Amino acid sequence: MLSYVFVGILPVALLFLPWDWLFELGNESNQGPLLRLLSRRELSLYDGEEGSKGLYLAILGQVFDVHAGHKHYGPGGAYHGMAGKDASLAYITGDFTESGLTDDVSSLSPLQVLALYDWLTFYQREYKAVGLLIGRFYSDTGQPTEALVHMEKSLAEGRRMKAQSEAEKVQFPACNSEWSSANGGRVWCSTKSGGVERSWTGVPRKLFSAGSTNVRCVCVEDPSAAAEDDPNLQGYDSCPPHAESCSVKD
Ligand code: HEM
Repeated sequence: MLSYVFVGILPVALLFLPWDWLFELGNESNQGPLLRLLSRRELSLYDGEEGSKGLYLAILGQVFDVHAGHKHYGPGGAYHGMAGKDASLAYITGDFTESGLTDDVSSLSPLQVLALYDWLTFYQREYKAVGLLIGRFYSDTGQPTEALVHMEKSLAEGRRMKAQSEAEKVQFPACNSEWSSANGGRVWCSTKSGGVERSWTGVPRKLFSAGSTNVRCVCVEDPSAAAEDDPNLQGYDSCPPHAESCSVKD
C-alpha cells in the first residue's frame, strides 16, 4: 500500500526536485556520483555566520559540510577562519592569519603534502562531501587542474620518502640515550631501542643524513659490514667497535 502511494506521488514529487541544482552537479567528466561545483563566492556564503547558507569548508578543492563540527568552525570556534573557503596551507603552517588562510600550497614539501592529504582523508571520513571548488584545483567543468596533478605527484613522492624513512628506521633503529651532569652522555642499544622490537641488539653508530648536518645515533646489527657499505655511518670516539654502549662528550 505504502509503495503504491509512493509510486503514485513520485511523478508529482519529481516536478518539485531542484533540477537546476542536479544538472549543476551532474557532469560527465566526473566519474563518480553527481558532483556539485561551487565558485569561491558561493562557498564564501557558507561561513556559518548569521544569515549564511550553512557551514562548509574546502581542502585541496574538495568541499565538505562541517555543520557537525560547528563548535570548531562556527563563529567563535578556534577554526572559524577555515570556514567558507579553501585554506589548505593553514593545515600545515598553522598560520590562521588572513594571508595564511590560502589554498596556495605550492611551497609545501612532499612530506608536508602527505600530511595535508591526511587532513583530506580526515574530512572524507568525518564529514559529508558536498562537491568541488572551482579554482586552483578544479576547473569549471570539475576537471583536475595542473596544480592538483602537481600535488598528486608530490603526494607520491612524500609516500615514497616516508616508506624509505620507515624502512631505514627498521634497518637502523635509534639508540637509547641518557645524560647527567655527573657522568655526561651515554648512548646504547637494546632489543627495543628506537621503538623497534627485534632479535638483535646492535652497536651504536653516528648516522649522518645526506645533504644535511643532522647526526643521530642508530643501532647497527653488523658493524663490520655496515661500516664498509655505508659512508654515512661512523663510530663514536674512544668506543670499542663492538661495544653496545658508548659514552659521548656532546
Ligand atoms: C597546524 C596547527 C593546527 C591545525 C591546522 C589544527 C587544526 C584543527 C582542526 C581542523 C580541528 C577540528 C577537527 C574536527 O573537525 O573535528 C582541530 C581540533 C582541535 N585542535 Fe587543532 N590544529 C592545530 C594545532 C593545535 C594545537 C597546537 C592544539 C593544542 C594546543 C590543538 C588543539 C585542538 C583541540 C583540543 C581540538 C578539538 C578536538 C575535539 O574536540 O574533537 N590544535 N584542530
